[in-house]
Amino acid sequence: MKLNKMIYGGDYNPEQWSEEIWQEDVRLMQEAGVNLVSLGIFSWAKLEPQDGVFEFLWLDRLMDLLHANGIAVDLSTPTASPPAWMITKHEDILPITAEGYPLWHGSRRHYCPHNPQYRRYAARIAEKLAERYKDHPALAMWHIDNEYGCHVGECFCDTSVQAFRDWLMERYQSVDAFNHAWGTAFWGQQYGNWQEIQPPRITPAHSNPTQQLDWKRFTSDSWIDCFKEQRDVIRSITPQIEITTNFMGFHKGIDYFKFAGEEDHVSNDNYPDTYQSDWMVQAGMVCDLIRSIGNGKPWMLMEQSTSQVNWRPRNVVKRPGVMRLGSMQALARGADGVMFFQWRQSKAGAEKHHSGMLPHSGTDTRVWREVKGLGNELAGLSEIVGSTVDAEAAILMDWENWWALEIDSKPSNELKLLPQLYKMYRYFHERNIPVNFAHPESDLSEYKFVAMPNLYLVGDQAAENINQYVQQGGTLLMTYFSGVVDANEHIRLGGYPASFREMLGMWVEEYVPYPDGLKNKIACNDGKYFECDFWADVIRLESAKVLASFEEDYFADMPAITQNSFGKGQAYYLGTELNHDGNVWLLDQICSSIGINATMCDAGEGIEAIRRTKNEESWLFLMNYTNKAVAVNLAHAGINVLHQVPVSGTVTVSANDVLIIKQTS
Ligand code: GLA
Repeated sequence: MKLNKMIYGGDYNPEQWSEEIWQEDVRLMQEAGVNLVSLGIFSWAKLEPQDGVFEFLWLDRLMDLLHANGIAVDLSTPTASPPAWMITKHEDILPITAEGYPLWHGSRRHYCPHNPQYRRYAARIAEKLAERYKDHPALAMWHIDNEYGCHVGECFCDTSVQAFRDWLMERYQSVDAFNHAWGTAFWGQQYGNWQEIQPPRITPAHSNPTQQLDWKRFTSDSWIDCFKEQRDVIRSITPQIEITTNFMGFHKGIDYFKFAGEEDHVSNDNYPDTYQSDWMVQAGMVCDLIRSIGNGKPWMLMEQSTSQVNWRPRNVVKRPGVMRLGSMQALARGADGVMFFQWRQSKAGAEKHHSGMLPHSGTDTRVWREVKGLGNELAGLSEIVGSTVDAEAAILMDWENWWALEIDSKPSNELKLLPQLYKMYRYFHERNIPVNFAHPESDLSEYKFVAMPNLYLVGDQAAENINQYVQQGGTLLMTYFSGVVDANEHIRLGGYPASFREMLGMWVEEYVPYPDGLKNKIACNDGKYFECDFWADVIRLESAKVLASFEEDYFADMPAITQNSFGKGQAYYLGTELNHDGNVWLLDQICSSIGINATMCDAGEGIEAIRRTKNEESWLFLMNYTNKAVAVNLAHAGINVLHQVPVSGTVTVSANDVLIIKQTS
């Protein structure tokens, strides 16, 4: 979006308030440095109070008022909350659970993504809004729907079932190809025609795994289709205005790599639980994912909270300084703006206990002072807009693998993807090494190092891509239970992980998932020992060399970590669940062998350091999450941007504070 300044603002839901209050809103927005609001997200019932009867005058007044006060609008289509009249008229819009129950009107997101009536109404209101505001000077961006897939991930109504069959017909073309893909020869599941197919409903035992996987693919595609339909309508009317929808970080239900490709601009909502001591690692991981799915382009933090949310069992406040730290972290990791849910804290309704930019108690409050303080700081950071974060390392991530890995009937059903990604990510975060998340089919050649944690499902194209990456000089670390199945979720036969056997110079004969409490140790070839648990692979060596071996169990002295030269590159394999120290030991060795270092500064513990770059200039963000001042040795002199003073040598970052150092190369 071309505001050419750091975006600052929030969801604005003014229909809750009188027009007098709107006047106060814009005055205070200006005071806080707000330059963009997301408007109309849940306004369908007010914009279209009856079928085909549209009331835009109130929105006209708001758009004019905001514009007159220098505030741009991220205008939303209100389709996340269909009005009551629509549901009364077409009850079949309601989503149906796997158990067959409807989810009624009375909260939000109560629609089936496949319902033709709903889709028609949604496209119509999108068109009306675009036609009405296409030339309005306040219109800066489109925000379609709200958090696709939130609350309701899937629908099992008859229309959805038919849509699933149509999707399968398109994918497989013939019933034979489809039967083969689903492996229906097992347990006598053959289908004679498309009409016999059902979604994975409640079954006596494990549902067919490929059926479960295809259902995930299908539902993910359905939400993306809903977006595309509105996007196309809007784009045809306002081709010059960028279109986004707000993502939810590591949301399992929708393939965001696929979805992001359909947007002009990626935006995300992030609500880390700041009560957890590692909240900044978790939040950083989300920021890096969002930057990565948007191909490294600047993204936008569309929603966060100023203080507490209202949807956790206990909703802790963001303590003084924490909201600023989290906001600066998002900027540091590539965002060109931070927004909140919501501008003015509600008086009524389901989210009245959720914090807002303007709290119930008004402006004489800590939260307001922090909101205003941050807005005014951001106003001085326009030059950073458009800069990017360069990473030499990547972690492979694929939604299809996430779905497949967590389908039941596995050697260990406790193997979940996010904790594994987190373990890998934590290393990079602690070492202040920038890292991207990369899709396994994407171009990996720009990376010196690629980590491949538990990539159980690997399609043919991805398998070839990964082999090629190593062959051409890349360094890869694959962890256990990777490369096991193909895109149909069929085992790749020929010694696990068969498609990588040559590359790894080894194969796995047996998976040995551990019961709770059972531990083992690895002995490393430099004399160190580390604990491991949860899983062990019985590894059979071919050309690889051994970096560490198991100490105990029937596979004692057999390899736990291997390294193999393949083409011009190196392929490492980790066949167990190492403790954190062990992971650091392994990743330190790999990264230092290929010259990946945190070269930007020498930072003490508790400091997160990350750089954004634009041409010859860069901005080093230093976030101190501790309650003590921390000294940082800068590699180059620069300007402390927030205080506009030159700095060199050692700088001190105060407790819970942020420094941004501009450096020129
Ligand atoms: C989501 C929604 C918002 C609001 C917030 C509350 O992000 O998009 O409408 O409900 O959660 O945290």
